[in-house]
Amino acid sequence: MPIPVDEQGIDVDQLIATGAEGALITPSHQFPIGGVLSAGRRQRLVRWIEQHDGYVLEDDYDAEFRYDQASVGALQGLAADRVIYAGTASKTLAPALRIGWLVVPPELVRPMDAELRRWKEGSPRIEQDALAHLLQTGAYDRHLRKMPANLP
Ligand SMILES: Cc1ncc(COP(=O)(O)O)c(C=O)c1O
Repeated sequence: MPIPVDEQGIDVDQLIATGAEGALITPSHQFPIGGVLSAGRRQRLVRWIEQHDGYVLEDDYDAEFRYDQASVGALQGLAADRVIYAGTASKTLAPALRIGWLVVPPELVRPMDAELRRWKEGSPRIEQDALAHLLQTGAYDRHLRKMPANLP
Protein backbone atom coordinates (compact mmCIF):
# COMPACT_ATOMS: atom_id res chain seq x y z
CA MET A 1 0.00 0.00 0.00
CA PRO A 2 1.85 3.15 -1.13
CA ILE A 3 1.85 6.16 1.22
CA PRO A 4 2.36 9.73 -0.03
CA VAL A 5 5.58 11.57 0.76
CA ASP A 6 6.33 15.28 0.89
CA GLU A 7 9.39 17.36 1.65
CA GLN A 8 9.45 15.94 5.21
CA GLY A 9 9.31 12.35 4.03
CA ILE A 10 6.55 9.78 4.46
CA ASP A 11 3.17 11.15 5.60
CA VAL A 12 2.89 9.32 8.91
CA ASP A 13 -0.70 10.36 9.53
CA GLN A 14 -1.77 8.78 6.27
CA LEU A 15 0.23 5.68 7.11
CA ILE A 16 -1.52 5.35 10.47
CA ALA A 17 -4.90 5.93 8.86
CA THR A 18 -4.45 2.81 6.70
CA GLY A 19 -4.53 0.57 9.77
CA ALA A 20 -1.22 -0.98 8.69
CA GLU A 21 0.80 -2.87 11.28
CA GLY A 22 4.16 -2.14 9.73
CA ALA A 23 5.92 -0.10 7.10
CA LEU A 24 8.87 -0.26 4.72
CA ILE A 25 10.57 3.13 4.70
CA THR A 26 13.74 4.81 3.41
CA PRO A 27 14.17 7.60 5.99
CA SER A 28 17.75 8.67 5.19
CA HIS A 29 17.12 9.09 1.48
CA GLN A 30 13.54 8.84 0.36
CA PHE A 31 13.32 6.51 -2.62
CA PRO A 32 12.83 7.60 -5.35
CA ILE A 33 12.40 11.37 -4.89
CA GLY A 34 15.17 12.14 -2.37
CA GLY A 35 14.75 13.97 0.92
CA VAL A 36 15.23 12.97 4.53
CA LEU A 37 12.53 12.01 7.04
CA SER A 38 12.14 14.98 9.41
CA ALA A 39 12.82 14.70 13.14
CA GLY A 40 9.14 15.26 13.95
CA ARG A 41 7.98 12.50 11.61
CA ARG A 42 10.61 10.15 13.03
CA GLN A 43 9.26 10.69 16.53
CA ARG A 44 5.69 10.16 15.35
CA LEU A 45 6.62 7.00 13.46
CA VAL A 46 8.39 5.59 16.50
CA ARG A 47 5.45 6.38 18.80
CA TRP A 48 3.05 4.68 16.37
CA ILE A 49 5.14 1.53 15.95
CA GLU A 50 5.77 1.21 19.68
CA GLN A 51 2.09 1.63 20.50
CA HIS A 52 0.91 -1.36 18.54
CA ASP A 53 4.00 -3.60 18.60
CA GLY A 54 4.44 -3.62 14.86
CA TYR A 55 7.68 -3.41 12.89
CA VAL A 56 9.24 -0.86 10.62
CA LEU A 57 11.68 -2.10 7.99
CA GLU A 58 14.26 0.66 7.56
CA ASP A 59 15.88 0.32 4.15
CA ASP A 60 19.00 2.41 4.74
CA TYR A 61 20.37 1.86 1.27
CA ASP A 62 21.98 5.26 0.73
CA ALA A 63 22.79 6.99 4.01
CA GLU A 64 26.56 7.08 4.04
CA PHE A 65 27.20 9.77 1.47
CA ARG A 66 25.62 13.17 2.02
CA TYR A 67 25.69 15.69 -0.77
CA ASP A 68 23.70 18.59 0.63
CA GLN A 69 23.34 18.16 4.39
CA ALA A 70 24.98 16.56 7.41
CA SER A 71 24.42 12.85 8.09
CA VAL A 72 21.32 11.74 9.95
CA GLY A 73 21.18 8.85 12.39
CA ALA A 74 19.29 5.67 11.65
CA LEU A 75 15.71 5.33 12.85
CA GLN A 76 16.80 2.00 14.30
CA GLY A 77 18.71 3.92 16.99
CA LEU A 78 15.42 5.33 18.28
CA ALA A 79 13.51 2.04 18.48
CA ALA A 80 15.83 -0.95 18.34
CA ASP A 81 13.05 -3.35 19.40
CA ARG A 82 10.68 -2.34 16.65
CA VAL A 83 12.90 -1.51 13.68
CA ILE A 84 14.45 -4.01 11.29
CA TYR A 85 17.43 -2.23 9.77
CA ALA A 86 18.80 -3.11 6.33
CA GLY A 87 22.12 -1.78 5.06
CA THR A 88 24.13 -2.47 1.93
CA ALA A 89 27.66 -2.15 0.57
CA SER A 90 26.27 -1.36 -2.86
CA LYS A 91 26.70 2.41 -2.64
CA THR A 92 29.80 2.60 -0.45
CA LEU A 93 31.89 -0.10 -2.15
CA ALA A 94 30.30 -1.72 -5.19
CA PRO A 95 26.90 -3.16 -6.12
CA ALA A 96 28.60 -6.20 -7.65
CA LEU A 97 29.69 -7.33 -4.17
CA ARG A 98 26.09 -8.35 -3.36
CA ILE A 99 26.61 -7.79 0.35
CA GLY A 100 24.05 -6.29 2.70
CA TRP A 101 23.18 -6.70 6.36
CA LEU A 102 20.27 -6.69 8.72
CA VAL A 103 20.10 -5.49 12.31
CA VAL A 104 17.01 -7.09 13.79
CA PRO A 105 15.22 -6.76 17.12
CA PRO A 106 16.37 -9.45 19.58
CA GLU A 107 13.10 -11.39 19.39
CA LEU A 108 13.50 -11.75 15.61
CA VAL A 109 17.08 -13.00 15.55
CA ARG A 110 16.20 -16.71 15.78
CA PRO A 111 13.29 -16.71 13.31
CA MET A 112 15.26 -14.57 10.86
CA ASP A 113 18.28 -16.83 11.13
CA ALA A 114 16.12 -19.89 10.54
CA GLU A 115 14.55 -18.26 7.50
CA LEU A 116 17.90 -17.22 6.01
CA ARG A 117 19.28 -20.73 6.38
CA ARG A 118 16.58 -21.97 4.02
CA TRP A 119 17.97 -19.78 1.24
CA LYS A 120 20.27 -21.57 -1.14
CA GLU A 121 22.05 -18.43 -2.31
CA GLY A 122 23.94 -16.63 0.42
CA SER A 123 26.33 -13.72 0.15
CA PRO A 124 29.83 -14.45 -1.20
CA ARG A 125 32.08 -15.69 1.61
CA ILE A 126 35.44 -14.30 0.52
CA GLU A 127 34.00 -10.83 -0.03
CA GLN A 128 32.30 -10.99 3.37
CA ASP A 129 35.63 -11.81 5.00
CA ALA A 130 37.26 -8.89 3.17
CA LEU A 131 34.49 -6.53 4.35
CA ALA A 132 34.87 -7.83 7.92
CA HIS A 133 38.58 -7.00 7.69
CA LEU A 134 37.80 -3.47 6.47
CA LEU A 135 35.39 -2.98 9.38
CA GLN A 136 37.67 -4.41 12.03
CA THR A 137 40.69 -2.36 11.00
CA GLY A 138 38.75 0.89 10.65
CA ALA A 139 39.55 1.04 6.93
CA TYR A 140 35.86 1.12 6.01
CA ASP A 141 35.26 4.18 8.20
CA ARG A 142 38.33 5.89 6.78
CA HIS A 143 37.08 5.14 3.28
CA LEU A 144 33.71 6.73 4.05
CA ARG A 145 35.27 9.84 5.55
CA LYS A 146 37.62 10.30 2.60
CA MET A 147 34.86 10.22 0.00
CA PRO A 148 34.40 13.75 -1.37
CA ALA A 149 30.61 13.55 -1.19
CA ASN A 150 30.65 13.62 2.61
CA LEU A 151 30.21 16.88 4.45
CA PRO A 152 32.23 17.24 7.69
C1 LIG B 1 15.36 1.51 -2.49
C2 LIG B 1 16.62 0.71 -2.53
N1 LIG B 1 16.85 -0.18 -1.55
C3 LIG B 1 17.98 -0.91 -1.54
C4 LIG B 1 18.95 -0.75 -2.52
C5 LIG B 1 20.20 -1.57 -2.42
O1 LIG B 1 20.04 -2.76 -3.09
P1 LIG B 1 21.25 -3.79 -3.18
O2 LIG B 1 21.88 -3.87 -1.84
O3 LIG B 1 20.58 -5.07 -3.58
O4 LIG B 1 22.19 -3.28 -4.24
C6 LIG B 1 18.75 0.14 -3.56
C7 LIG B 1 19.78 0.30 -4.60
O5 LIG B 1 19.88 1.30 -5.23
C8 LIG B 1 17.56 0.89 -3.57
O6 LIG B 1 17.32 1.79 -4.53
